[in-house]
Amino acid sequence: MIILAIETSCDETAISIVEAEGVFPDAQYRVRGNALLSQVALHREYGGVFPAMAKREHARTLVPILTRVLAEATLPHTDATPTFDAFDTLLAREYDLAADLHAFLAEQPVPQLDAIAVTHGPGLEPALWVGINFAKALAAAWNLPVVPVNHMEGHIFSSLFDGSRLASVEFPALALLISGGHTELVLMRDWNQYELIGQTRDDAVGEAFDKVARMLNLPYPGGPEISKRAEAARSTGTSSTYTFPRPMLTADHCDFSFSGLKTAVLYAIKDQTLTEEDRQAVSVAFEDAVTEVLIGKTKRAIDAHEVRTLILGGGVSANTHIRMAFTELCTDEYPDCTLYLPERALTTDNAVMIALAGHARLAFGTPPAADTIVADGNLSLAETPARKP
Ligand code: KG4
Ligand code: ZN
Repeated sequence: MIILAIETSCDETAISIVEAEGVFPDAQYRVRGNALLSQVALHREYGGVFPAMAKREHARTLVPILTRVLAEATLPHTDATPTFDAFDTLLAREYDLAADLHAFLAEQPVPQLDAIAVTHGPGLEPALWVGINFAKALAAAWNLPVVPVNHMEGHIFSSLFDGSRLASVEFPALALLISGGHTELVLMRDWNQYELIGQTRDDAVGEAFDKVARMLNLPYPGGPEISKRAEAARSTGTSSTYTFPRPMLTADHCDFSFSGLKTAVLYAIKDQTLTEEDRQAVSVAFEDAVTEVLIGKTKRAIDAHEVRTLILGGGVSANTHIRMAFTELCTDEYPDCTLYLPERALTTDNAVMIALAGHARLAFGTPPAADTIVADGNLSLAETPARKP
């Protein structure tokens, strides 16, 4: 089975073509084509993601990226001719994108594909809609089903993927998903069963990194900037002159809160002219506080549910210190719990993870009628459709 996957939930436009041989979760996967265009440089000027610009950029770049990915994948063609019956919706909503796609489809022989997977949430709704409308028009033209995928489920699969296979997971598994929009502890008693056992009550952890970076006059996205400075501070071996709170660390639940930590940083640096050394000292103290909270809450969840597999996913899982802390946690304290971290290239948003999650979705049920698929900015993993009877 060959799946074309589309991801436009935030500020990366990504398309991949993944071939799956065999049945989920034991299939052998081959990434036939994969491309990603980051809009980070454009959003940097605004200090964060600017939704209207994200939408416009997705619309502008989807067809060029599709062209590149199809060229890379070298798929066999069918004798079919594309149909343009469903183009009205795309024309009405995305005129330029519709014109580009129409011109592309008129030239392109129909490739042998089995399904189109597309992220339908969570994320920025205007951005999600571009990908969904594009997927629907493409699927109608090539007579393929559309498989809606939850972006966070994608991050879980990213962590389990070694480039050709998914790890064989022992349940119960626990996923700590840490990104720009989410901080969640998700319990999986089996494949396709997601129970949200903890989440942030205010800011997401990536958002806290981005906001603190902004206070330090560092560019967006702030995670890598803070991480770099914290690493520099750690390499000197001296302890930071700052200490920040660990919100909700001892509270008897698995929820998180990061807005108090962010405010503590704001007060600590108020009215100061910061040197690079100060920035490093704040970065390391902030990173320490975040890491301790993430570890503390994860331990609570592991203990409560006798977790056998720990999955770390989302953009923040690129953080070296956090990766190390979780590696040590499993080695030293939970040797019977296997840890999976995403390969660096798959930590940020990408479409390979959407193809993998799409393949799983197809194993668990028939995809819905394409016209019923809508963008849902707040889509939760707990809403994932149940296993087919
Ligand atoms: O998963 P992702 O690419 O997009 C969302 O779905 O939100 O995550 C982006 C977030 C941003 O907040 C970014 O600052 C953060 O991941 N991030 C990091 C690092 N690299 C990216 N945070 C901490 N340390 C990093 N090295
Ligand atoms: Zn993400």
